[in-house]
Amino acid sequence: IAAARDQAASAASLEDLQACLAAFDGCNLKLTAKKLVFADGNPQARLMFVGEAPGRDEDLHGKPFVGRSGQLLDRMLEAIGLDRSSAYIANVVPWRPPGNRTPTPQETEICKPFIVRQIELVNPDVLVFLGAASAKTLLGVQDGIRKMRGRWMSYPGKGKEIAAIATYHPAYLLRSPLEKRLSWRDFLSIQDKLTGGSAT
Ligand code: URA
Repeated sequence: IAAARDQAASAASLEDLQACLAAFDGCNLKLTAKKLVFADGNPQARLMFVGEAPGRDEDLHGKPFVGRSGQLLDRMLEAIGLDRSSAYIANVVPWRPPGNRTPTPQETEICKPFIVRQIELVNPDVLVFLGAASAKTLLGVQDGIRKMRGRWMSYPGKGKEIAAIATYHPAYLLRSPLEKRLSWRDFLSIQDKLTGGSAT
């Protein structure tokens, strides 16, 4: 973990960080994954999404959220007038866990310095955690997603506090479509935050 922290911290750019991860041998997930899934979208965007870990389609393409979950995420973005050119998308863990199992706490801890550095380098104004796992890793909050979602929190960025919110993971919405009602609220709240409004 110390090695991961040192390497991540020394990355001066996103390209550097990606190269660093590509050369990093401290996470066993790399052995079974086909590709490194680093990020997608616009590094200049004010809005950044963080998911948990790549699935099968992401592992094949080397890009986050390109499977069914990703298509739903695209539609949700579209609903608030955005697309991938106005958002940056990454995961806590950049390699697919075998069979899409949940990453272990050790795997998550090893990868954490890299996503922390990635957030620093992108320096977004608004951070959205897709599902409870990424919020737990990055904010240390222990609540379940049902309790945590839709509430604005603060993420300690580099030299500034970043407005952060957790919402349902799109994969969960595919299984529980009725919950889209609450996600819709969260996305309106995100839109509002980006446009500087004050409505909840
Ligand atoms: N689920 C995630 O958390 N991330 C992806 O990239 C795809 C599915």
